[in-house]
Amino acid sequence: MLDIKGKIFLAPMAGFTDKVFRRLCSRFGADVTVTEMVSSKALVLGSAKTKELISFSEEEKIRSVQIFGSDAKIMAESVKILQDEFEYDFIDINMGCPVPKVVKSGEGSALMKNPSLAAKIVEEVAKVSRKPVSVKIRKGFDDENINAPEFAYILQESGASFVTVHGRTRAQLYSGKADWEIIRKVKEKVKIPVIANGDIVDFESAKRAYEVTRADSIMIGRAALGNPWVFLQIKEGFEKGYVETKVLPHMKIRVAIEFFTQLCSEKGEKMAVLEARKHLSFFVKGIENAAKIRDKINRINNATELLEFLEELAASLEKKESFVDNIL
Ligand SMILES: Cc1cc2nc3c(=O)[nH]c(=O)nc-3n(C[C@H](O)[C@H](O)[C@H](O)COP(=O)(O)O)c2cc1C
Repeated sequence: MLDIKGKIFLAPMAGFTDKVFRRLCSRFGADVTVTEMVSSKALVLGSAKTKELISFSEEEKIRSVQIFGSDAKIMAESVKILQDEFEYDFIDINMGCPVPKVVKSGEGSALMKNPSLAAKIVEEVAKVSRKPVSVKIRKGFDDENINAPEFAYILQESGASFVTVHGRTRAQLYSGKADWEIIRKVKEKVKIPVIANGDIVDFESAKRAYEVTRADSIMIGRAALGNPWVFLQIKEGFEKGYVETKVLPHMKIRVAIEFFTQLCSEKGEKMAVLEARKHLSFFVKGIENAAKIRDKINRINNATELLEFLEELAASLEKKESFVDNIL
């Protein structure tokens, strides 16, 4: 039996939560990891590029593949392919993506406006899936269509094993505050476990999110970017009542170096340099002269040079930190 209660999920984030980043977050305590969303249509068409998105590292504990689409038969077909070719613990269906191209095709968050199709998708997928099926939804499509509780109930009745709720509407995208009250309303409406998502960034917000939503688990997205130890800090907070672990700037860069090294061996140096930029810009957040450092990183085109730059940066930050430590 898959037990997803009391866990911390790393949210799926297209362009960020590849195997290397998921591995890093797992090492820092993420209990559940989800692939970036993959197109069910592309899977059925046999796209090798799509399949490349679905590979897990040993460190990942509970693993999920997230699929999107709007054709129930194709989605079920894609799950047949997935379960024959990959090892994972549950399938997650994306019903929250706000991207215009996806919404125009009736996929992602558009399904929240089409509950009968959403129900059919879950039914067909659950029928063929040997693993549990979950759905990730939003508060609703827009302010005139806030339906997460009723929608989640329909998904439950159609065979969903649990739901994740991002407390924003599609219209809000990622702006404004996530509404945790709506997540609590979902929790009151359904029997299946509910995962709370949106604006959980540290132990304090995790604690409040549990109190307000009464959810079974929590999911963290943006706060994990350049900050994978957030999982460890939240767990420490729940164990001790406070967070002791502080991550000094030089430690952040040391973790970034390890991440980049992994990225090189996974994707090759050229691709790693390009892909590392977006992650490194989060890792240097809050460090003195972050804008200058980012600018420099973005102009480096080769892995050896980037590694040298990061090593020097870590060393100089460490020197500064021990100097301050000696004064105090
Ligand atoms: C860059 C980016 C990519 C995302 N990609 C996905 C995705 O592929 N599938 C999905 O269900 N949600 C996706 N999301 C939404 C997140 O999973 C999450 O619901 C949202 O960021 C709110 O959580 P947070 O406040 O903890 O970041 C993405 C969010 C961001 C910022």
